[in-house]
Amino acid sequence: MPQSQLRPEEVRPEVQDAVAAAAARLARAGVASPRVDAELLAAHVLGVDRGRLAIQRRFPAGGADRYGELVGARAARVPLQHLVGSAPFRYLELAVGPGVFIPRPETELLVDWALAVAPGGPTVVDLCSGTGAIALSVAHERPGSRVIAVEADAQALEWLRRNASGRVASSDPPVEVVAADATDPQTLVELDGTVDLLLCNPPYIPDGAPVAPEVSGYDPPGAVFAGPDGLAVIRPVIGRAVRLLRSGGWLGIEHHESHAGVVPELLRAAGFGQVSVHADLAGRPRYCTGQHLAHLPP
Ligand SMILES: C[S@@+](CC[C@H](N)C(=O)[O-])C[C@H]1O[C@@H](n2cnc3c(N)ncnc32)[C@H](O)[C@@H]1O
Repeated sequence: MPQSQLRPEEVRPEVQDAVAAAAARLARAGVASPRVDAELLAAHVLGVDRGRLAIQRRFPAGGADRYGELVGARAARVPLQHLVGSAPFRYLELAVGPGVFIPRPETELLVDWALAVAPGGPTVVDLCSGTGAIALSVAHERPGSRVIAVEADAQALEWLRRNASGRVASSDPPVEVVAADATDPQTLVELDGTVDLLLCNPPYIPDGAPVAPEVSGYDPPGAVFAGPDGLAVIRPVIGRAVRLLRSGGWLGIEHHESHAGVVPELLRAAGFGQVSVHADLAGRPRYCTGQHLAHLPP
């Protein structure tokens, strides 16, 4: 029976049909979360939150075609965040696109830990800042902080500056953006011995390790790979942390799950105490923390 002969309550909503078909298409393309991505793309086209998708029936003029294009691009493994132009991270919606690493949900846990150990009014350094996900979250959630974000890559710096210029709340302290190599002993040398908290999500995948098409095609290689053992940035960052942190200050550094043995060893060898490895929500060892004890009184 043609839809025109059905009562209104029997007309199948165009949006729900399109989302179901898109989810099936994305699943066939190997997308990890096909239904969620199909819904988020539809919500993007409709200009509504995903939670309101269930009550949407029809796309606006041109919307169905636009949705088809976006689903096609996602099936070709363009990252969802590039298609919608932003990535959620804790309370923030960060601008992302070509040339910058898309922040990952597991990194939110490093921020949880950081907020728990940070003293009042801390000086916080985020090395390898990318979009500024860590730095901007700390500034937003700990308004009395001084937060400095260090990034080396020119394209990533553009995204970082763009995100840093759009503070979420007027009470958020401005994040200071520094264009520098996090592994250079001269970077932030004027802060040596004063930093309360040093956070870092560096590149850490061993060169040549297999990664998802979204990563190989869209995350900048310099944001992902770090030498044959994946430790080419982590090693010098730990050395830099020893100098930057005040006595009793904390380092939190994200790493690959295969580094759950070596990174704590590197921290202990550098003089850190209270060294712990923390798991992500899937139970994988994901970041390592330690306290700089070198100058603490006995
Ligand atoms: C894995 S991404 C993490 C970005 C961001 N911290 C996050 O959690 O979403 C690593 C970032 O470190 C930057 N980077 C790599 N080597 C660097 C270095 N030696 N100094 C400063 N930044 C570096 C890359 O450009 C990239 O933006």
